Amino acid sequence: MIEIFPEEQNLPAFCPAPPVEDQRDYLVGGQLHVWDGPLQEVFSPLPVRRGNQLRPRLLGRVPRLDLAAALDALAAARAAFDEGRGPWPTLGIAARRQVLQALRAGLAERRGDIVPLLVWEVGKSLAEAEGEFERTLNYFDETLADLERRRGEDAVPVTAEGIAARRGRAPRGVVLCLGPFNYPLNEAFATLLPALAMGNTVLLKPPKIGVLLFRPLLGLFRELLPPGVVNVIYGEGEELLEPLMATGRIDVLAFIGSGAVAERLVRAHPRPLRLTPVLGLGAKNAAVVLPGADLERAVRECLLGSLAFNGQRCTALKILFVHESLRDAFLDQFLAALGRIRQGMPWDKGVWITPLAEPERPGYLRALLDDALAQGARILNPGGGSALGSFFRPALVAPVTPAMRLFHEEQFGPLVPVVPFADFATIDQFLRDSDYAQQISLFGRDEAALAPLIDSLVNRVARVNLNCKCQRGPDCLPFTGRKDSAVGTLAVREALDAFSHPALVAMRDGREDRALLKSLSTSGRSTFLAPEAEG
Ligand code: G3H
Repeated sequence: MIEIFPEEQNLPAFCPAPPVEDQRDYLVGGQLHVWDGPLQEVFSPLPVRRGNQLRPRLLGRVPRLDLAAALDALAAARAAFDEGRGPWPTLGIAARRQVLQALRAGLAERRGDIVPLLVWEVGKSLAEAEGEFERTLNYFDETLADLERRRGEDAVPVTAEGIAARRGRAPRGVVLCLGPFNYPLNEAFATLLPALAMGNTVLLKPPKIGVLLFRPLLGLFRELLPPGVVNVIYGEGEELLEPLMATGRIDVLAFIGSGAVAERLVRAHPRPLRLTPVLGLGAKNAAVVLPGADLERAVRECLLGSLAFNGQRCTALKILFVHESLRDAFLDQFLAALGRIRQGMPWDKGVWITPLAEPERPGYLRALLDDALAQGARILNPGGGSALGSFFRPALVAPVTPAMRLFHEEQFGPLVPVVPFADFATIDQFLRDSDYAQQISLFGRDEAALAPLIDSLVNRVARVNLNCKCQRGPDCLPFTGRKDSAVGTLAVREALDAFSHPALVAMRDGREDRALLKSLSTSGRSTFLAPEAEG
């Protein structure tokens, strides 16, 4: 299996490994500070191969800030917010939009630096890394367009019961932004961008894996935003995050990652009623293949849903319930399709299965497999579940039962558990027992069977996918979950709402005050009331 990793001299010139650098700079209060304390090493999941030897590939080192430095960054974010009086929260939507447009342009220019870092640090295929970058630019475009729409809506005064009012949205305060390793760029901006757009100030800590790509952005934040509006810190989450929350000076926790960590962070806040959590957490999305389903489609979507990007997606299909009447045909077709998917290095064309980003993941997947095998499941594809270092071959595992860990735990990797079922009660029980409730995929064509399932499942998960895999996009649709899968909604419009608070200026609807409102609005003295001519 070692040949899957290329030798040093055979690396492709079009996707070079980044030069190893010691990063000492971090961004606080509009200044690039130089850290003279300890650094953390950043390794690639793509090791160096010499003949039969693999050794870890160092990509760089980043600051391991101490708590004092992190608290300084929080103080800078608070000072920039200045109880809502800072230049950014009072700038008004139109002017903020212009700054964010420039931020988008600056990000677009850094594609050549950022995409290879996604490949080398996360092991993401080049095509998916390009896709993540593009999607982030699109997210900017959609957010900026929505801001414009919202500005138009807010500019219309409302008059009712003798009161005239102008509505708008106001920032919530200081946002702690924490994204995950699997979409380190996109999901950082999925919260950072709406937070900024609505006038908040931000303390951002990049994920431990997927950290290097933030360095090319530090200068951009510094150049375009008032001091302290974005502060970027580095270090051990376990040392820094709970104490930051414990100050009570974080207003919004924007976190995409595990529910256990989210719960610890929320609990650390001394005034939880003042905290707005915006959380995208774990999931164990199921596919249900019903009698009469279009098998070819079901197999294609289940394969993509469970194994694209190694299954390292919160929305991945993590358990497949297949009706007994289709079991053999489904497994045969799935096996054939599985045999055709490409496994290799991220730059290989059409590759799905690449080295796993998290060093501990292969061991965890092995433990899930061993548990399932010990309880009567089998690996159906030859070589499935074999691993070398970060490389883990996908495994189709059946029959999986509720007694197995794989039935309940979120594998976040290339294991495909199949549960044959005779009665929907099996799935009902799974949904009832699961801590998660993000999405489900139903495969079927029989309306009489589908309708009651749809009508009950929309009340149990956040999205029911018909004859297609689960996924987050498109970003104009609400992305959320129930139970421990999410708090709040991440999508263009909903995120702008999540990072802002409704605000009003109201008055008695008399001639004099109406004139005052008009004058405040047209003079440009108030950014909240201004109709804000397009810049
Ligand atoms: O990991 C969770 C991501 O938000 C999933 O996004 O469905 O576009 O892969 P995706």
